[in-house]
Amino acid sequence: MILSVDNLHVNFTTGSGILEAVRGVGFSLDKGEILGIVGESGSGKSVTAHALMRLVPPNGAIIAGAIAYRGRDIAALGPEELRAFRGREVAMIFQEPGRSFDPIYSIGRSLAETLRAHEPGLSDDEVRARSIRLLEEVHVSNPESRLDNFPHQFSGGLLQRIMIAHALAGDPAVLIADEPTTALDVTIQAGVIDLLRELRLRRGLAIIFITHNLALISGFADRLVVMYAGMVMEEGPVDTVIRAPRHPYTAGLLGSLVPFGTHHSEHPLHILAGTPPDPTRHEAGCPFAPRCPLVTDACHTEVPEIREDAGVRYRCIIPGAKTVATND
Ligand SMILES: Nc1ncnc2c1ncn2[C@@H]1O[C@H](COP(=O)(O)OP(=O)(O)O)[C@@H](O)[C@H]1O
Ligand code: SF4
Ligand SMILES: [Mg+2]
Repeated sequence: MILSVDNLHVNFTTGSGILEAVRGVGFSLDKGEILGIVGESGSGKSVTAHALMRLVPPNGAIIAGAIAYRGRDIAALGPEELRAFRGREVAMIFQEPGRSFDPIYSIGRSLAETLRAHEPGLSDDEVRARSIRLLEEVHVSNPESRLDNFPHQFSGGLLQRIMIAHALAGDPAVLIADEPTTALDVTIQAGVIDLLRELRLRRGLAIIFITHNLALISGFADRLVVMYAGMVMEEGPVDTVIRAPRHPYTAGLLGSLVPFGTHHSEHPLHILAGTPPDPTRHEAGCPFAPRCPLVTDACHTEVPEIREDAGVRYRCIIPGAKTVATND
């Protein structure tokens, strides 16, 4: 295990009171593993990812929980250690590559800055050689001439590859990719995912891939964490979770959840009705209860305990795999 998160809670202070963005999240990541984190917008995926690097906005705070990297509590890192940790141990890429680049810096200049931030003593020649190698590694063609180009001269897909090159500059063991393909079209998305797969094989890189699109990671991740309302609802090997979702929310994301006795034609597939709860007003009980077709009175009393079944952990009072619709 390279990274573990246990009972993480992150709160924000907002105009409408305390917003509980992350409520007891826990999972672990093995060396070279691809972990998918999936959930609708607002479920706490990005806040969790940032908390892993101890990057919480000023109005937020990690109020409980432990994050350990190679067995070491990251809350105990001093400023110097934290700087080295970010980028050289765990690096992160984001959704909109365009916004991460300074438009007045050439790609070569910004890569040089990143490389020197990790290793201040590098010579100009060494920086150039390493920049070229990094661009080659992410399959940017003609890297030597492209170093002199500016961000606006690249497509969104190429900028995302260059952002991955930045993330690799510190030779991290873990890459957190927060919706890295959401702004890209489908073919380009697939290219970025192929690249990440390749980097895992070549570098033994562990990857946390965050998305709201379950279909995107089903053939890519090894394990899946399904988040809802700041909590992990289901976690397990990707094939098992997708074949036989134990949590009604996962089944809903898969477009396969129907209430018992309902014919599929009465229940449009791939549409999850309702909206997530207001994070400033969490109610008692299962957070999915207002949207759950399987809800019972008992669901409203407390947050369901975690159950374990076939290597899958899930929070639902009803044991076993949930109803899956078929098209016949
Ligand atoms: N700086 C902030 N101040 C207040 N609320 C925030 C802040 N950042 C995130 N949130 C809230 O925390 C919750 C989780 O957000 P986020 O982790 O970004 O969701 P997502 O799963 O879409 O990545 C949301 O309700 C969001 O509005
Ligand atoms: S605990 Fe109840 S409301 Fe929550 S997911 Fe399970 S059946 Fe649905
Ligand atoms: Mg997000």
